[in-house]
Amino acid sequence: MMSKPFVLINSAITADGKLSTREKMQIEISSKEDFERVKRLREKFDAIMVGVGTVLADNPSLKGNIIRVVADSGGKTPLNSKVLNGSNRAIIALSERAPRDKRVALEEKAEVLVCGEEKVDLNLLLEKLGSLGISKLMVEGGGTLNWSFFAEELVDQLYTYIGNFVVGGKRAPTLVDGEGVREKEEAFELELSDMQRLGEGVLLKWDVK
Ligand SMILES: NC(=O)c1ccc[n+]([C@@H]2O[C@H](COP(=O)([O-])OP(=O)(O)OC[C@H]3O[C@@H](n4cnc5c(N)ncnc54)[C@H](OP(=O)(O)O)[C@@H]3O)[C@@H](O)[C@H]2O)c1
Repeated sequence: MMSKPFVLINSAITADGKLSTREKMQIEISSKEDFERVKRLREKFDAIMVGVGTVLADNPSLKGNIIRVVADSGGKTPLNSKVLNGSNRAIIALSERAPRDKRVALEEKAEVLVCGEEKVDLNLLLEKLGSLGISKLMVEGGGTLNWSFFAEELVDQLYTYIGNFVVGGKRAPTLVDGEGVREKEEAFELELSDMQRLGEGVLLKWDVK
């Protein structure tokens, strides 16, 4: 059996830890230098993954010479979304609850992998991606998907670019949302491997212990 890919979560957050505004409006957090860094980083990875929440909120094109993967249990990715209509290979991970007609329509646009009954089973998905030859996976959010990667203990590294502004809002998505842990003992420990000023913000590189 092929091994699971190495997983890096790369995200840009505001100084108060948010991924976007309370309206889930995409905001430019990265500096010019950070955009360049992400562009170069993507070249070192085989695939890039986002959750369907990010596709619906931002409609990202996920540019770069890289396979694009969407975790989309219910098959809600719009057929006209950029991720399905670029020049690169796209993979949509569904669960068994995705409606059959949507699955068939998605198969016209992308490779469909069915992993899990209700929610995309990330362990199974990573095994399938590994067997497709994907050995390095970059996860670009959002906060709900990031949580599942941590909760399943599938994250190897976390890179956070912290921008120089505050947006506030208790409902604004944060770097890691989901259920969260109950107490410190359950927290996922990190080790700082590097830090760097990039424009007006700072890049922190963490290894997950
Ligand atoms: N600043 C940044 O770097 C950055 C990057 C990305 C996103 N964002 C922001 O983040 C926000 C979107 O974040 P979000 O948390 O709403 O959405 P998300 O994490 O992108 O997607 C969450 C959705 O993914 C689906 N999913 C499928 N399998 C899953 C699994 N195993 N675990 C968790 N989710 C799974 C779920 O929907 P189903 O159950 O329907 O499948 C879930 O609701 C937007 O505002 C966007 O602008 C910012």
